[in-house]
Amino acid sequence: MAQGAALRDRFSRHWRHVAPHSGFPPTGLSWHEVDMTDLTLTSGTPASLFAFGTMQFGDAADEAESRAMYDACRAAGITHFDTAVGYTDGASERILGMLAAEDRDAIYVATKIGYDGGGTTESLQAQFDQSRRQNGLDYVDLLYLHRFQGATPLETQFALLRDWQKAGLIRHIGVSNYAAWQVMKAQAICKDLGTRIDAIQPMYNLVKRQAEVEILPMAADQGIAVLPYSPLGGGLLTGKYSRPDASGRVVENAMYAKRYSPDWMRETAAGLARLAEEVGTSPATLAVAWVAAHPTGPIPIISARNVAQLKPSLDAIEFPMTPELRDRISALSITPPPATDRLEEA
Ligand SMILES: NC(=O)c1ccc[n+]([C@@H]2O[C@H](COP(=O)([O-])OP(=O)(O)OC[C@H]3O[C@@H](n4cnc5c(N)ncnc54)[C@H](OP(=O)(O)O)[C@@H]3O)[C@@H](O)[C@H]2O)c1
Repeated sequence: MAQGAALRDRFSRHWRHVAPHSGFPPTGLSWHEVDMTDLTLTSGTPASLFAFGTMQFGDAADEAESRAMYDACRAAGITHFDTAVGYTDGASERILGMLAAEDRDAIYVATKIGYDGGGTTESLQAQFDQSRRQNGLDYVDLLYLHRFQGATPLETQFALLRDWQKAGLIRHIGVSNYAAWQVMKAQAICKDLGTRIDAIQPMYNLVKRQAEVEILPMAADQGIAVLPYSPLGGGLLTGKYSRPDASGRVVENAMYAKRYSPDWMRETAAGLARLAEEVGTSPATLAVAWVAAHPTGPIPIISARNVAQLKPSLDAIEFPMTPELRDRISALSITPPPATDRLEEA
């Protein structure tokens, strides 16, 4: 089954069960009929419905550990791998490029440029050139602009991506950390340029649910694939930070410490750990499976620093999430109000 069809199928299955009490789909949408980009491999086979993020390659994971995680992902059926030009001073792209080159046609490689340096042609071109040198690949399957850069006209930025696409250097176009209105603006510009936004990469997890309000419904309406990052909240949702001696990004990295600082998030993580014990699985498995089971069918980008850490996230692929269990997990955190703010209609 083509990937768009698989996602629609997953969506329609969830829709039947979840829609009555989830607000999905919003009135007036018929998501079954949306023409969705298939994130296919060059062979035409759909890429996997879970992706792996290589932000730890070359840092928390040395080359041997990176390969071990890559192999574990492949064994679990994952073919979609995510990186960025700036990750780990280029080591992430270098290691992923080397691994992907061993079986290029079977791997979907996504990378990102444009987090730093603004969105000028010179800056984006220099970063794309650097990315190509680092990964050593003839083409990447998906190139994202890493964040919205409003100072340079979007026409300029996306014309460049369109040109690279026409030249066969990239296959699909994506954006990350864009607000919904920014995606729609970019999509209109892409249409005029004869291309489209195929994928978006927002943050989304049990304690970061803003994407539910505008981004996920927009993507479903527009047939844009969604690849949420940080399904474990950077590790918070593993439950390990309930131990005072816990180590990891959320206590060691100031940005993540701030992002996940509210007390209620710790309480949500503790509640998820209790629920996981009750159902006999790991909180990480529940957290990732919860993201994947959103009615719009996002493709979570899982990650870890070693194979042992990775296991519970991989287990989410086969976890039999039910609508009832997903509702219980959702109830552990704050559901964001609808875009209209009319709570009585939510
Ligand atoms: N577009 C963007 O702006 C953006 C931003 C962030 C990430 N991403 C992409 O999304 C991918 C995933 O994001 P993420 O790394 O934030 O995902 P995540 O799943 O929320 O966090 C992964 C981290 O959680 C911890 N962890 C994972 N499993 C664990 C376990 N079983 N026990 C204890 N700790 C565990 C590890 O960090 P510690 O060992 O340090 O605790 C691991 O690196 C990245 O690799 C990257 O490709 C994109």
